[in-house]
Amino acid sequence: MKKVLVATEKPFAAVAVEGIREVIENAGYKLELLEKYTDKQQLLTAIADADAVIIRSDKIDNEVLDAAKNLKIVVRAGAGYDNVDLQSATMHNVCVMNTPGQNANAVAELAFGMMVYAYRNMYNGTSGMELKGKKLGIHAYGNVGRNVGRIAKGFGMDIYIYDCFTPQDIVDADGVKRVDTVEELYSTCDVVSVHIPATPETKKSIGRKLVSSMPKPALLVNTARKEVVNEEELLQVMSERADLKYVTDVAPDAIEEFAKYQGRFFATPKKMGAQTAEANINAGIAAARQIVDFIENGNEKFRVNK
Ligand code: 3PG
Repeated sequence: MKKVLVATEKPFAAVAVEGIREVIENAGYKLELLEKYTDKQQLLTAIADADAVIIRSDKIDNEVLDAAKNLKIVVRAGAGYDNVDLQSATMHNVCVMNTPGQNANAVAELAFGMMVYAYRNMYNGTSGMELKGKKLGIHAYGNVGRNVGRIAKGFGMDIYIYDCFTPQDIVDADGVKRVDTVEELYSTCDVVSVHIPATPETKKSIGRKLVSSMPKPALLVNTARKEVVNEEELLQVMSERADLKYVTDVAPDAIEEFAKYQGRFFATPKKMGAQTAEANINAGIAAARQIVDFIENGNEKFRVNK
């Protein structure tokens, strides 16, 4: 009997796990849960005889792949797969997939929760600002970025996007303004919401040059990855510009340095953009179905490694 492991250091909602179980057991496979694990050894042991694994931000590195003797497929229930060693997976003959779009609305809603929180001075009761009429820059217009754009319309924001990959018909249909350079996005927008993946090209790409060009007062919202921010440079700009606020769902490494900017910095205690029952159900069940379709039919539609 095939074994599917769900290895989630940050567990899905129980209702999502039930949905995953149904898909896996209906296919005649066995489901094993490894939730809230604290030690890599627990993952190494649980994955040893698994044919497939569903993960979130859990790290699948060479050591884990070496330990997983039967593994054929890893599905990252979510968008970003920077936590999986793709090259090693390919070498181990393991297919890696994500579930694009399934948790995008949840992340986009949190971005707005954080924008309102920052604009209302962290709910301290003092007079804040409204998002209506402000220029919103969406840094990458993928699944999350598009949801951010959709919600921004309801807030009455003026929407700008920077994304080289989005086809023009989507830009036109959505009625957002595309700028040609990332520099133009930051120098134009009052609020920038970051939605780029962490890749060798994007790591530390948001730093002094971009952030210091933002009009005053400026708000930077990061629900993407901490790695895309040049923390040292952002801290410098925070120290120079009292109008700059940074709110993030991906706590920086230098959190203690950022925390000095009380009232201008906020980080969620644990990354929670995709942490809704709906997103867990969508991404978790999509992952389970992709595994069954891969094992039964060889469907590799969502494969991300070569
Ligand atoms: C993603 O890449 O899908 C999001 O960052 C969500 O990550 P999580 O599943 O660890 O919450």
